[in-house]
Amino acid sequence: MKSIIEILNLSKNFDNKNILNKINLKITKGESLVIIGKSGSGKSLLMKCVLGILKPSQGEILIKNKNFFSVKRDEQDLILKSIGVTFQGNALFDSMRIWENISFKLSQNNFFKFSQLKEKVEFSLNQVGLSNSIMYQFPSQLSGGMQKRVAIARAIIDEPEILFFDEPTSGLDPVTGNKINSLIIDNVKRLGSTSITITHDLSSLNKIANKVAMINEGKIIWYGEKQDLKKSKNKTLNEFINIDSDVRIKT
Ligand SMILES: Nc1ncnc2c1ncn2[C@@H]1O[C@H](COP(=O)(O)OP(=O)(O)OP(=O)(O)O)[C@@H](O)[C@H]1O
Ligand SMILES: [Mg+2]
Repeated sequence: MKSIIEILNLSKNFDNKNILNKINLKITKGESLVIIGKSGSGKSLLMKCVLGILKPSQGEILIKNKNFFSVKRDEQDLILKSIGVTFQGNALFDSMRIWENISFKLSQNNFFKFSQLKEKVEFSLNQVGLSNSIMYQFPSQLSGGMQKRVAIARAIIDEPEILFFDEPTSGLDPVTGNKINSLIIDNVKRLGSTSITITHDLSSLNKIANKVAMINEGKIIWYGEKQDLKKSKNKTLNEFINIDSDVRIKT
């Protein structure tokens, strides 16, 4: 199967401290990979390297066979256009209204008139179950769950081929978290995107994943199909997925 993202021997150091250690990961077009791991293991950092926000210390990342750091600016723009992302903690722009947040990526070029942007924002809000009436509000006026939905609306607005969700349900009650998981699945399916979701939330893993990777201390210590998680003999993985006896991995 064709890889849409290839991470080859990726290491990332800060001040000589090694954080990501020789990561190898291939993500096939159309799959839904969930990345799990303890706090501080390097999950968000890995995503930032893939997004070209941080440059690897060693190794390389290919997105649709292109290395972000070795291509020209217009090719970098094309790579970025193909990716939508929700950052951990949403990272909405506090001083911008909801419609400005959602249309931010589109407003970076001059192709769209306000009426077109508004239409796209309305469509995107609709896809995440939010009313158009919040368009002129600021992020601080919304609940945590609504902010997560806005972050998803921003990620999907230009119909990206690849979607990253970093901790999409953290800080939410289980019912709202479950709705967010459903939104992710519905939108990924609607767009036919490849998705990478970083989570601590085992119910998200159960619902969203077909493939799972676990990172521990900067290394991939387990990778496979979700249904094979149960068969794992890896102690660190088993501890992680069995820690809460009420949440079991369903296969
Ligand atoms: N820009 C940076 N400069 C220095 N250190 C960094 C930087 N970004 C991340 N780190 C370090 O890398 C390690 C991994 O951070 P990362 O944010 O990837 O963890 P995580 O697995 O996403 O954790 P969590 O589940 O808590 O979000 C941490 O020790 C962090 O301090
Ligand atoms: Mg993180």
